[in-house]
Amino acid sequence: MTLLTVRGLTRRYAGLVAVDRVDLDLPARGVHALIGPNGAGKTTLFDLISGLVIPSAGRIVLDGQDITALPADARARGGLARTFQAIRLFGAMTVLENVLTGLHPHLSAPLPAIVLHLARLRREERNAVARAHEALALVGLEQRAGERAAALSYGEGRRLEIARAMAGAPRLLLLDEPAAGLNPAETVSLGVLIRTIVAAGTTVLLVEHDMVFVMGLAETVTVLNFGRRIFHGPPAAARGDKEVIAAYLGARVAARFAAASPP
Ligand SMILES: Nc1ncnc2c1ncn2[C@@H]1O[C@H](COP(=O)(O)OP(=O)(O)OP(=O)(O)O)[C@@H](O)[C@H]1O
Ligand SMILES: [Mg+2]
Repeated sequence: MTLLTVRGLTRRYAGLVAVDRVDLDLPARGVHALIGPNGAGKTTLFDLISGLVIPSAGRIVLDGQDITALPADARARGGLARTFQAIRLFGAMTVLENVLTGLHPHLSAPLPAIVLHLARLRREERNAVARAHEALALVGLEQRAGERAAALSYGEGRRLEIARAMAGAPRLLLLDEPAAGLNPAETVSLGVLIRTIVAAGTTVLLVEHDMVFVMGLAETVTVLNFGRRIFHGPPAAARGDKEVIAAYLGARVAARFAAASPP
């Protein structure tokens, strides 16, 4: 069964095509990786799938429903969640409150309803708090629920972002470089967490530069370069693919040139 279908997805910015006619089919199970050199369009593809950026062309279908025209909160209710490449937490709020913000699209609380259905809404709030605690337990932060998010270490902040995304019980979770900045022990436990999430039935699509991490975790790899999909298949085959090697080698050589050029 296919969970996510992307067809001809394109995002143009002035003079640049960030995502260029990308097709993608993700089965409803497992871990899938999206890789490619810096600027390849990985985050933009996540922005398009999650509804933060409007496509210039193309279609996105989640679980049989065309979500291309839906706003981000409707996509969240449809089973989509994501984390961000740079951590986006509310430092002054508690750990628990940060997770509750992830449930916002899932709550039904316009003001007249609050006035008319106080009892039901209290129930809904209790339910949301319970779900938030469950999500914190999943990532091993339940003991920190009452602390300010700013008190967390960087690695714990990354886990909190995952808890916030998981609170709504998504069918598809998009993780944008979840291992970036983690130490080796934190990276190993992130791998365990992702496996736990997948075993519980959520499909994971992750962007990651750490190839060892990707190879050990992902069943399929999609490679982007200059916005174009240049490979889709098993990780082992990606390593031997000429176009993939050229894309990475090209990026590395370009980076070396930039580093070597005088200021
Ligand atoms: N809002 C925007 N306006 C103009 N150009 C943009 C915008 N967002 C992204 N881009 C450009 O689109 C291209 C793809 O960027 P994107 O952030 O998707 O790449 P990425 O693969 O996630 O890179 P990285 O590995 O560095 O995170 C880049 O050239 C980037 O500068
Ligand atoms: Mg990115």
